[in-house]
Amino acid sequence: MSLTPFLDKLPIPRVLAPLRRDKCSTYYEVEMREFFHQFHSELPPTKVWGYEGQVPGPTIEVEEGETTLIQWKNNLPDKHFLPVDHTLHGCHESMPEVRTVVHLHGANVPPDSDGYPEAWYTNGFKKCGPCFTRKVYEYPNHQPATTLWYHDHAIGITRLNVYAGLAGMYIIRDKNEKYLNLPSGIYEVPLVIQDKSFNPDGSLFYPTNVQNPPPEYPEVSITPGFAGDTIIVNGKAWPYLEVEQRKYRFRILNGSNERFYRIKLDSGQSFIQIGSDGGFLRKPVWLDEFVIGPAERMDMIVDFTNQPVGARIKMTNSARTPFDFGAPPDPNTDGLIMEFRVIARTSEDTSVIPERLNCIKDYDVCFAEKVRDITLDVGADQYGRLLFKLNDCEFMDYITEDPIVGDLEMWRIINPGLGVHPLHIHQVQFRVLDRIPFDTAAYAQTGQLRFTGEPEPPNENETGWKDTVQAYPGHVTRLLMRFGPYLGRYVYHCHILEHEDHDMMRPLEVKPPEHCHQTDQPF
Ligand code: C2O
Ligand code: CU
Ligand code: CU
Repeated sequence: MSLTPFLDKLPIPRVLAPLRRDKCSTYYEVEMREFFHQFHSELPPTKVWGYEGQVPGPTIEVEEGETTLIQWKNNLPDKHFLPVDHTLHGCHESMPEVRTVVHLHGANVPPDSDGYPEAWYTNGFKKCGPCFTRKVYEYPNHQPATTLWYHDHAIGITRLNVYAGLAGMYIIRDKNEKYLNLPSGIYEVPLVIQDKSFNPDGSLFYPTNVQNPPPEYPEVSITPGFAGDTIIVNGKAWPYLEVEQRKYRFRILNGSNERFYRIKLDSGQSFIQIGSDGGFLRKPVWLDEFVIGPAERMDMIVDFTNQPVGARIKMTNSARTPFDFGAPPDPNTDGLIMEFRVIARTSEDTSVIPERLNCIKDYDVCFAEKVRDITLDVGADQYGRLLFKLNDCEFMDYITEDPIVGDLEMWRIINPGLGVHPLHIHQVQFRVLDRIPFDTAAYAQTGQLRFTGEPEPPNENETGWKDTVQAYPGHVTRLLMRFGPYLGRYVYHCHILEHEDHDMMRPLEVKPPEHCHQTDQPF
């Protein structure tokens, strides 16, 4: 099936209105339901699952320090329309097929509002998982202006639920952002980039039996990674956006299961990156192209001022899948993302590209209380299928990452494999210290790290707050982070959703300081 690119206009997800707002909090209800959505005007409507009847879900916009209460209501059917793999952890036939739990990615929230993968619930909260927490989630939003996103996180089916449409953007604003005088209003545009494949009848395609199915389960769906052949932005395949001759701000989110994008404009214009996962960078970074991995967000300014009226500028992708050793994209399909069509300016552009955006204090590596090694492993499961692990452990193995609240930790993400894994840690925004190349053959033989070069500093656009990092193959990626203020159970995982479901996810328990014994004193 070939769809005409740049036929449909880019939709802009609406901003969700709260049900009520008072001095203490803002209350929202968000319903997950099944409906039909047209991804392209040459495609029949497609069955999807989305928040508030939208794919992607509505954008939630909050102010720093405002408390939001959200009831995420599951009104989905009892049967999944994508192939659940009952061989995966938490997906046994005795479990309900359709389970959901919402995670606000990048947010620092108490554990009972973080969307622990086993805190799932079914339609109408009829059944709940072994770690069910609360019906209304509470988000303190005590972090600087940035782009977060919410998405489903139910154990063993996250890849299916997100692919079905359960994802949306969440924006925190603050005073600093207002002073910066960036392009705003209709000139600030979210771009949620995803990829899908469609069956001839327009239904969503997700593969089954990619690897040999075990005899007792004739149909299974786990795969080492799935990338669709159709690129979707804000719910439309290869859309176009009319842009005036002026500056725009694009909040780019890669909401794909597996696919990385190496993004460029065919006009040769630069992207000016102003923010990363957790907030503004110190200063803008000019980029001719950039790589965005699953779950990463990049806040970009593009200046169309000097482009001629009528110009058509394509946003293209050149990243291989799996990244970055697989097949290159086809320049006519997955090598295309969207198109900008330049029109005349309707008013003066008074927005600016500030020289300074944010002050960010570096962590001092000398104060790291703890160094943890996290190895990204590939092995085989009991059926001989590829199994991705962290430190050779599966999700259900006992907890090994138990940082003490308030401690600064260094995590060394050791990637002896071939691909880039986007490693994501809940509760924190971290900093990328560096990446050090090592001898992977020696590591495979001896388990010892033998460095083969000097530490490489992070890319300029990785020098701010991050919650998801591209762990390069043959490199130890070193991160610095401070856990807190909340205690309790979270997770960290690879954000390739097929890896996360099988089984590249681990619990993370933030502990109280050892010397502080719980007493019954009031303070
Ligand atoms: Cu975006 Cu644990 O996830
Ligand atoms: Cu997260
Ligand atoms: Cu991975």
